[in-house]
Amino acid sequence: MADPLISYDPAGVFIPEHGITPEDIGRIAGDLDEARDEVLADAQLWADGVEPPAAKQPLDAGFHELPERLLNDYRTNGAASEVARLQATADRLAAACDRTVVLGIGGSYMGARACLEACCHPYYNELSRQARGGRPRISFEGNNVDNDAMQGLLDLVGRGAEPAGVDDRWSIVVISKSGGTLETAAAFRVMLRTLRDACGGDAKKLAELVVPVTGTSGKLFDLATALGCPAEEIYEVPDGVGGRFSVLSAVGLLPAAIMGLDIVKLLEGAAAMNEHFRNCGPESNVVLQYVAVCHLLETMRGCDIRLLSTWGKRLEAVGLWYDQLLSESLGKQERGAMPLTVVNTRDLHSRGQQHQEGKRDKLVTNVIVDSFDREPLAIGSSEYNQDQLNELADKTLPDILDAATKGTNQAYREDNRPTADLHLPRLDEHVLGQMLQMLMLATVVEGRLIGINPYGQPGVEAYKKNMNAILRA
Ligand code: PA5
Repeated sequence: MADPLISYDPAGVFIPEHGITPEDIGRIAGDLDEARDEVLADAQLWADGVEPPAAKQPLDAGFHELPERLLNDYRTNGAASEVARLQATADRLAAACDRTVVLGIGGSYMGARACLEACCHPYYNELSRQARGGRPRISFEGNNVDNDAMQGLLDLVGRGAEPAGVDDRWSIVVISKSGGTLETAAAFRVMLRTLRDACGGDAKKLAELVVPVTGTSGKLFDLATALGCPAEEIYEVPDGVGGRFSVLSAVGLLPAAIMGLDIVKLLEGAAAMNEHFRNCGPESNVVLQYVAVCHLLETMRGCDIRLLSTWGKRLEAVGLWYDQLLSESLGKQERGAMPLTVVNTRDLHSRGQQHQEGKRDKLVTNVIVDSFDREPLAIGSSEYNQDQLNELADKTLPDILDAATKGTNQAYREDNRPTADLHLPRLDEHVLGQMLQMLMLATVVEGRLIGINPYGQPGVEAYKKNMNAILRA
């Protein structure tokens, strides 16, 4: 049976005065179709290796059909394919050590964290090695320059002490497309010298425990080569795949494989979303419907704050990954909606007041997981009924989450605040792959629809230039 697709229900935006109508969406169906055609043509242009016209540059459309390319390579070339090599490296590291420090920032880190939080055990790092299926713990660094946090990580890895066995051994996966990002480079230098000490200065051992993911040239590539990392294990961030679009390349796949996730399923989910995007008309196309609602609420109703309201605990990092994707892609030319990840029910107790009664500048997109992996926990009855929960004894935690979701959205509807629902049939690699691809496609479609190039992030350069000037003055 085919894996079920995620679905989108915009019913909660069809409200009087502050919402839109199905006819509004119908009115822009032609524009949506054109934007989709342009996105498909961009992917083709990229695949053909044709120099894009100046107006299209930069054109990092390589992410779009990357899942299909990797899957075809895997099916055709088996053990020699990139997917199989990534899996082999991940298995090798898993056998050799009990912690992998993943160094990277922005697009070179957030996707891996999204995979960990969405698909691994919620207390993954705290489980025994056996309960982790023999996979290493994952620690993220290189995503900041926080002295005490880095010192804390050094404590955790034994500050260079030689390991007594696999339980104390650790490895580094360092990810940087440019190979020159200062936060990641500084963390790599500190961690590398610590790992070298832990290897007793043995260069061969060290090279076995460091796996880089980077461009085909650059500072990190040169450093990895000098360290003796084998060429076949210096993984590439493919040309034409921008950082924030790189989660389904080695950038996200290597850490995901190290965690023990099924990376083929991740890619298959993304490919299924590509097929849906290509073939479904605007009226039933999840990507186009989502873009239409976001775009119309922004342009017609001034909703330029987009809340991705995740229910339950496992999607926060996916939301943060998306915050980055949308902000860096469309936050240009003094335009672009503001994404904000919300984790409910937690944030009902911190942001809920504002979302219910604050400015009418928000569109809420609920992300609802329709089924749970584990047996539902019931409240249960107790002889200590001071909390008066015995009358809810049969209710389960999913019942409570469901009531909170429905109750919140009812309250928004009663005040004519627009909401839409993204339903995930469950939370696993296939569905996560679909969701990541859906949000990447939606971002580039919206960019084409409103005439903003979703690729490149020229604005980030200013801080880097200033920081370097200050440091080197
Ligand atoms: O989306 C992007 O391109 C950025 O967020 C980058 O991923 C981030 O700046 C890290 O860059 P690099 O991978 O070159 O170290």
